[in-house]
Amino acid sequence: MKNVLIVSYSQSGQLADIVAALARPLETEEIRIHHEVLRPEPAFPFPWPFFAFLDAFPESVRLDPRPNRPLSIPDDTAFDLVILAWTVWYLSPSQPITAFLQSAEGKRLLAGKPVVSLVACRNMWCCAFDTLKTLVTQAGGQLVDHAALIDESPAFASFITTPRWMLTGRRDRFLGLPPAGINTRQTKSVTRFGTALAEALARDEEKCGQPMLSGLRAVSITPHLVMSERTGLRAFRVWSGIVRLCGRAGQWRRIPALMLFALYLIIIILTVVPLHMALQRLIAPLLARRAAAIIRHYEQPSGADGARMAHE
Ligand SMILES: Cc1cc2nc3c(=O)[nH]c(=O)nc-3n(C[C@H](O)[C@H](O)[C@H](O)COP(=O)(O)O)c2cc1C
Repeated sequence: MKNVLIVSYSQSGQLADIVAALARPLETEEIRIHHEVLRPEPAFPFPWPFFAFLDAFPESVRLDPRPNRPLSIPDDTAFDLVILAWTVWYLSPSQPITAFLQSAEGKRLLAGKPVVSLVACRNMWCCAFDTLKTLVTQAGGQLVDHAALIDESPAFASFITTPRWMLTGRRDRFLGLPPAGINTRQTKSVTRFGTALAEALARDEEKCGQPMLSGLRAVSITPHLVMSERTGLRAFRVWSGIVRLCGRAGQWRRIPALMLFALYLIIIILTVVPLHMALQRLIAPLLARRAAAIIRHYEQPSGADGARMAHE
C-alpha cells in the first residue's frame, strides 16, 4: 500500500478539477490518497475585490504569506509521495502554497520525500517554479517531477480575460475572446500524469529520485516569455518593497502605492511588454543560445517530449 499526499489550493475550482483528473487513476486498492486542501486564515476572497487583488502582490512576491489553518493530517502519517498542485500569483507561488512549504507541518511532511509539482496558471510559471524548487529543497523534499498547464489562448486575450475572471468570477467568452483559463481537453489530459504515477508507484519508482512523468509532454517553454518574466520579477521586487514601506497587508495606507503600481503595470504591459517581445523576435538569432539555455533549465526534470503520449 502506498500513501500519496496531494496538497492543493484553488479559488475558482480550475485547479481542483485538474487535481481530480490527476487523482482518478491513482484511486486504486494499492494507493491511499490524502488530499489536503489548504485553507488560508483569513480566506482570500474570490472573485477578488480590486484592492484585495492588488494587496496580495507584495507579500506574494516577498514570500511573506498569510498563514494557513492547521492541516487535517494525523501527526504520525508518513507519505511515499507528495504532489503539490499550485497556482502562480504575481510570478511567485500562490501565498497558500508558499505558507505550506514554509510551515513546520509542511517541512515535516516533505522531509526526505519525493515531490511532484503540478502548476496551472495563465502562462507565466517559470520564475515561480524556481522559487518553488528552492522552497521544496529548503523543506527537505526532493523535486522529481514538474508539469505545467497554461491558458492556450493568445497572451493578449488572456491578459484581458484572466483579470476579468479574477475580478468578476466570469470566465466565459468576452468581446470575441476565448474563455479564460485551462480548457476541458487540457484538464482531461492530466489523467496521463496520474496513470504514469500509478504505474511508477506500483514499480517502487518513486524511491529512485528519477522523473516519473518524462515522455508525457509535461511542460512547454516559450523562452521570450521567460525573459519577460525575469525582467518583470526584478521590477516586482522593487515595487513590493516600496508598497511594504507604506504599511502592512490590508492597511489603507498602502492604497496610493498600490494604485501607482497598478498604473505602472498597465502602462508597462501596454507599451514595454509588446516592444520587448517584438525586439526579442527581431533579435531572436542573437538570443538563440540564451533561449536554448532557458529551455534546458525549465524542461527539467520531466521534459517536454511526448514519447510516451499513448497514455493520453
Ligand atoms: C493575485 C493573482 C495573481 C496572479 N498572477 C499570475 C501570474 O503572475 N502568472 C500567471 O500565469 N497567472 C497568474 N494568476 C492566475 C493564477 O495562476 C490561476 O491561473 C488562477 O488564479 C486560477 O486558479 P484557481 O484554480 O486558484 O482558481 C494570478 C491569479 C491571481 C489571483
